[in-house]
Amino acid sequence: MRVAYVQMEPAFLEPDRNYSRVERLVKKARGEGAELVVLPELFDTGYNFQSRSEVEEVAGEIPDGPTTEFLVELARGEGVFIVAGTAEKDERGNLYNSAVIVGPIGWGYIGKYRKIHLFDREKLFFKPGNLGFHVFNIGIAKVGVMICFDWFFPESARTLALKGAEVIAHPSNLVMPYAPRAMPIRALENRVYTVTANRIGEERGLKFIGKSTIASPTAEVLAMGSEDREEVAVVEVDLSLARDKRINERNDIFKDRRPRYYVL
Ligand code: ACM
Repeated sequence: MRVAYVQMEPAFLEPDRNYSRVERLVKKARGEGAELVVLPELFDTGYNFQSRSEVEEVAGEIPDGPTTEFLVELARGEGVFIVAGTAEKDERGNLYNSAVIVGPIGWGYIGKYRKIHLFDREKLFFKPGNLGFHVFNIGIAKVGVMICFDWFFPESARTLALKGAEVIAHPSNLVMPYAPRAMPIRALENRVYTVTANRIGEERGLKFIGKSTIASPTAEVLAMGSEDREEVAVVEVDLSLARDKRINERNDIFKDRRPRYYVL
């Protein structure tokens, strides 16, 4: 199957502009055969909020808000699965840094993930995710979802892989330089593909590093974005590699785990 990232610069607090930008970039990825497209974290709103009320103005319910509706329409029109980061406001007014997964006709809205490990000032506005790590079986692949800083906690990717993820979709707004180096290792130690879709640009003095990354179960970097351009990358992946946890005749990295020695 073909997986893709969309690397873009969201217009801050302007969801409508971001919808049109994403429409163009997803069409481009689809034109190159992408079946699963990953968009950045908070692609619809931008990232560097100053106040809770600023987030509240642009956050929407999932699935009944405008961003999920936009994504469902786009996925239907293009016949593609999409994982995208978005600001969520639940029915009680709680805010979450979330991601949604949507698909073509017959799928529509599939599910959501709420970021579990909040980074820095996100803690001022968002509640930590309370839905756990989840793997979505979309027929052509089993897709685990985590968001940006979750990568720093190896337990995130490990949990998704143990739950059967073959591909980890990783919407991001990276500001530290490490993830493009670390994600191939997350892919290797779990024998999965990872698709990190990062943003570019600067918001109120905060600079985002680009370098969106697709990594293979053998730690190869199959695609890496620039630091400063909007672009898509589409890569053919062989999921049988991700399903096979054997690395030689005697080692299966999941069967060889010794969880009884991993407790404190
Ligand atoms: C991040 O989690 N957006 C750094």
